[in-house]
Amino acid sequence: MIKIKDNFGRYVNYLRISITDRCNFRCIYCGQGRDFKFLPCSEILTYEEILRLISIGQRLGVEKVRLTGGEPFIRKGFLDFLGKVMDKFPDIDLRITTNGSLLKKHDIVKLKQIGIKAINVSLDSFDEKKFRYITKNGNLYSVLDTIYSLIQEDIRTKINVVVLKDINDDEVIRFANFAVNNPVDVRFIEFMDLTRDNKWNQKFFVSAKDILSQIYKEFELIPEILEKKTKGPARRYKIKGGKGRIGIISPLSDHCCNRCNRFRITADGSLKTCLFAKKSYLLKGLLRNKKISDDIIVKVMLKAGERKPIGRELYLKDKCEYLGMYKVGG
Ligand code: 5AD
Ligand code: SF4
Repeated sequence: MIKIKDNFGRYVNYLRISITDRCNFRCIYCGQGRDFKFLPCSEILTYEEILRLISIGQRLGVEKVRLTGGEPFIRKGFLDFLGKVMDKFPDIDLRITTNGSLLKKHDIVKLKQIGIKAINVSLDSFDEKKFRYITKNGNLYSVLDTIYSLIQEDIRTKINVVVLKDINDDEVIRFANFAVNNPVDVRFIEFMDLTRDNKWNQKFFVSAKDILSQIYKEFELIPEILEKKTKGPARRYKIKGGKGRIGIISPLSDHCCNRCNRFRITADGSLKTCLFAKKSYLLKGLLRNKKISDDIIVKVMLKAGERKPIGRELYLKDKCEYLGMYKVGG
């Protein structure tokens, strides 16, 4: 099998595919002070096109797929689509990232029946008012209900917390306690300024080091040695006596780029080899052109792979194009 390999010796075996750029939330870190502008429906990849991309990815060694957004559950037919993906690609490790607000108990039972094993849910505050402030219109309790139902159904749950100075950095210990009392992975994420315009955002940044030092004061952490075939960018810790774990994701202060194994596909079918890459490969046009075979798309993906950059370096020296996470696929 030909695999997607880049010039730094990294293999790409993980696709993150955005199902839609639409979202019912307007998280402040996602929009970064700008208006959310959504794509017209005709620009969004159809479910069939996404299935085709997964199948092409699998030919190239893709083993893991994350479906994300925007908010994927906002798209009509998403649950049925998940069933199709599981049927068609039983060997793919399928994950989902969601804001958790649109799922009802029966949807979660269905996820379990379909065979979904792991989900990431974004949750940035346990305080109702603060939660509403961060998400602009989100209801904390709908998300908490989802998290408790996922735990009940024994679906592995990761909670993504973007830590923001003077907004939710006083809740770090509360989140760590949540991981003590529940079998979940709480992952603290360093806020990434995707606009790089140095105005709106610098004030929000809290470093992974600061987050960890807060936690070390209260808990005994047992670092998990990164497995040889490391699975991702999080540094993970068990908490002594706790049911769950915590993780820290520091895209900016840690050099996780050298372990990066992913491609992102935006909702309108652009392949981004890196969160910070300006260049994207417009796959939608290829997918919609009857004359273009899978073999040609394979070639484009291999070529794109060769050119996958070290994002952190791009970020530091370059002015990145502004794209909210809802556009790139979180
Ligand atoms: N910085 C860090 N993480 C972000 N996310 C979205 N925008 C940002 C940002 N600017 C993460 C959130 C969400 C996931 C989809 O992406 O944690 O859970
Ligand atoms: Fe929606 Fe996720 Fe962006 Fe929040 S971070 S607005 S939940 S896409």
